[in-house]
Amino acid sequence: MTRYAGNAAALRALVREQEVHRDVYVSEEVFQLEMEHMFPNSWVYVGHDSQVPNAGDYFGTTIGTQPVLLVRHTDGKVHVLHNRCPHKGTRITSETCGNTGKFFRCPYHAWSFKTDGSLLAIPLKKGYENTGFEQSHAAPGMAPVRHVRNYRGFVFAKINGGGLDFEEFFGESLSSFDNMIDRSPAGQLKVAGGVLRYMHNCNWKMLVENQTDTCHPMVAHESSAGTVVEVWKKAPPGTKKPMAVEIIAPFMSPYEFFENMGIRIWDNGHGHTGVHHSIHSDYSAVPGYFEKMTAAYGEERAKAILGENRHNTVYFPNIMIKGPIQLLRHFKPIAANKTLVESWTFQLVDAPDMLLERTLMYNRLINAPTSIVGHDDLEMYERAQEGLHSNGNEWVNLQRLYSPDEAEQTNVAVNGTSEWPMRHQFRAWSKFMTMGM
Ligand code: FES
Ligand SMILES: [Fe+2]
Repeated sequence: MTRYAGNAAALRALVREQEVHRDVYVSEEVFQLEMEHMFPNSWVYVGHDSQVPNAGDYFGTTIGTQPVLLVRHTDGKVHVLHNRCPHKGTRITSETCGNTGKFFRCPYHAWSFKTDGSLLAIPLKKGYENTGFEQSHAAPGMAPVRHVRNYRGFVFAKINGGGLDFEEFFGESLSSFDNMIDRSPAGQLKVAGGVLRYMHNCNWKMLVENQTDTCHPMVAHESSAGTVVEVWKKAPPGTKKPMAVEIIAPFMSPYEFFENMGIRIWDNGHGHTGVHHSIHSDYSAVPGYFEKMTAAYGEERAKAILGENRHNTVYFPNIMIKGPIQLLRHFKPIAANKTLVESWTFQLVDAPDMLLERTLMYNRLINAPTSIVGHDDLEMYERAQEGLHSNGNEWVNLQRLYSPDEAEQTNVAVNGTSEWPMRHQFRAWSKFMTMGM
């Protein structure tokens, strides 16, 4: 039975001003429609160009659930291709990443393709003579994703034509990427430290929402971060504060801290916590770093860059970045109740190694499958995913600090515990889900 396919009104009715229907999290049909409409209508993160530094390097990922490849062509340009053989649909690469040399070769019947996707050769080519092959869907080779944008190394793609162009979609939100990249004295990042992958048995949107949920840390993370704080209290006076404590302790900050830190709302579901300060504001200085930044940018600009300590910036639909510690999390939808989380870390080119050490430590302590903190969140998501099947109430409440005129506003900074970012994410969800429907 389909209830939502082709029914924009029914989909829109799932999102109210202050609440959303549980079907946005639990319905497989809604999930399929997200894959068919919402993700293809959005600019979705593909990867960073430092993952494919040399010609022939490729990286396999997904836009929604569609497999795509980021690949560097012989001319140095980065392409995004659908990871699908035009013959019978076989996924071309099985590895997540590697170097394919000068061409891709399909493992099924050995059709081959240049690294820009164009068809290179077919075994027994004669068999296609006089068949009209040149006019077939297969003749052009691997289909490219047409709309690709490399923003200072971060590659985004949009599958559908029409809709918003890159600048319209992101607008001022790109300032969070700028700040993360400008923290390198060379103005450049590169992926370092591998990737952590962590399967979550819950809907992908629960993870996205959680990035601006500031009322949960001191509650859900009391078991982990609270224990760290208790243990640290017992350290002998004069003990140097370990990096791990510096990273974890701020999770136990009181409500007031999060209220005052502020949340900024941008159009199209983007936004960030930590307008005035954040859990990353009070890390100890890294020797030699400020000097390098001053030499690169001048003192005033260096201070401005490092004085910006945004907590989580959400880029709708499914990534979050942390500028002050150079980390990106990618929430990859697998099914209505399954999400693969990838956690990527970046090195600031020309900056002291200790900064990368802190980034990697943060990722391991907070986001890894073996982390201290991440399990707390997963437990809550899974309980929510189960609890939503209760018929006690079909609606999820997003009412905190709601104001009736908020839908018209953008680029505003509000109380740091507001659920406005979540309401804004769902306004964007509704818009891109039904665009052109
Ligand atoms: S499926 Fe790729 S060559 Fe046949
Ligand atoms: Fe959390």
